[in-house]
Amino acid sequence: MPELAAHVRDVPVNQIREITEAAWRTPGALVLSIGEPGFPLPRHVLEAGMACLDRDETNYTPNAGIPALREAFAARFREEQGCDVGADRVYVVAGAQQGLHLAMSLLLSPGDEILIPNPGYPTFAMTGRLLNAVPVGYPLYPENGFQPRPEDLEALITDRTRALVLNSPSNPLGAVLGGDLTRELMDLARRHDLWVISDECYEAFTYDVPHISPARFDGGTPGEARVFTSLTLSKTYGLTGLRIGALVCPPGLKQKMDNVMESIVSCVAAPSQYAALAALTGPQDYVQHASGHYRENRDAASAVLDSLGIPYLQAQGAFYLWADVSHASGGDVRSWVRRFLADSGVALAPGTAFGSIGEGWVRVALCGRKEDLLEGLSRLPVRKPN
Ligand SMILES: Cc1ncc(COP(=O)(O)O)c(C=O)c1O
Repeated sequence: MPELAAHVRDVPVNQIREITEAAWRTPGALVLSIGEPGFPLPRHVLEAGMACLDRDETNYTPNAGIPALREAFAARFREEQGCDVGADRVYVVAGAQQGLHLAMSLLLSPGDEILIPNPGYPTFAMTGRLLNAVPVGYPLYPENGFQPRPEDLEALITDRTRALVLNSPSNPLGAVLGGDLTRELMDLARRHDLWVISDECYEAFTYDVPHISPARFDGGTPGEARVFTSLTLSKTYGLTGLRIGALVCPPGLKQKMDNVMESIVSCVAAPSQYAALAALTGPQDYVQHASGHYRENRDAASAVLDSLGIPYLQAQGAFYLWADVSHASGGDVRSWVRRFLADSGVALAPGTAFGSIGEGWVRVALCGRKEDLLEGLSRLPVRKPN
């Protein structure tokens, strides 16, 4: 067999999948390693998808998506962020992952550098590598509350740096970027003429702090605008399997966007688009219910970790808790999560799945059943005071 392309051989293993698949093969395992919301989907959303099939509306849609859905995404973004965004800037994509790939495909040539958070969501690096670009992790240090420091980013910028990835609320950290820091990071991007890809997968879930989109600080004209905002309904409405989201782009890119979209997926499946339209424009009880559940789970899980003496980052958004298990993991958390699964029947995502700074940490998914979460965490080894 001939060799695969070198950049494909280099795409790293996804350690979240590694432990989760091992857990699925382990009878009775408590799976706290993956962020899959578990509530039944709202009926009106399912019905809108089924009605599309009943009408036999199963042909291609425009590359950018059906106009009503583009407008619904734009209207939501205008309402929530106060940004002056028209439907013409919204591209409907097959989930945030395809949106990230689309944005990176537009911006990165082989050898270009892209700044990504460390710890950060694994596909930022995977997608960059797949495009022959060079992902460069910018450090998020525990002693700085895992918030980025503009001077650390500045020190990593070279003449090959083309784009900066921001992710707030963060997976895996549950950290949220405040308005002042977001503005500073946008100023930095402007000073160095970088594109910004803002992954806002978890924008619907913040606890006692607002979600502030970097697009609020972006310029409005084609020459000034630099932010691609990646949105998805996977988390907001639990529509992971329908593969539906949107990329909000700077103005003036329509033809290029169509060309790149055509050569990646052409368009998103019509039933998913109609289901998404119903989700965005119909009753919002699902989101309120999910948000309440995640907050309750966060508080209950934090209390268990407190009782075991295990330090963690106070989650302000998303549905993850980032916990320090360095007292148990012996400098190799990837191996430790496998042993913990084998010995205690609980799967946690190793911090190293998200970058080198995750060594000694685990990510706990808060989106499942509260009983499983509390039972799983109670099996963690106690941390004795020094
Ligand atoms: C930060 C982040 N970005 C992107 C994605 C991909 O989401 P989607 O299912 O919409 O492709 C996820 C999924 O977990 C995520 O956590």
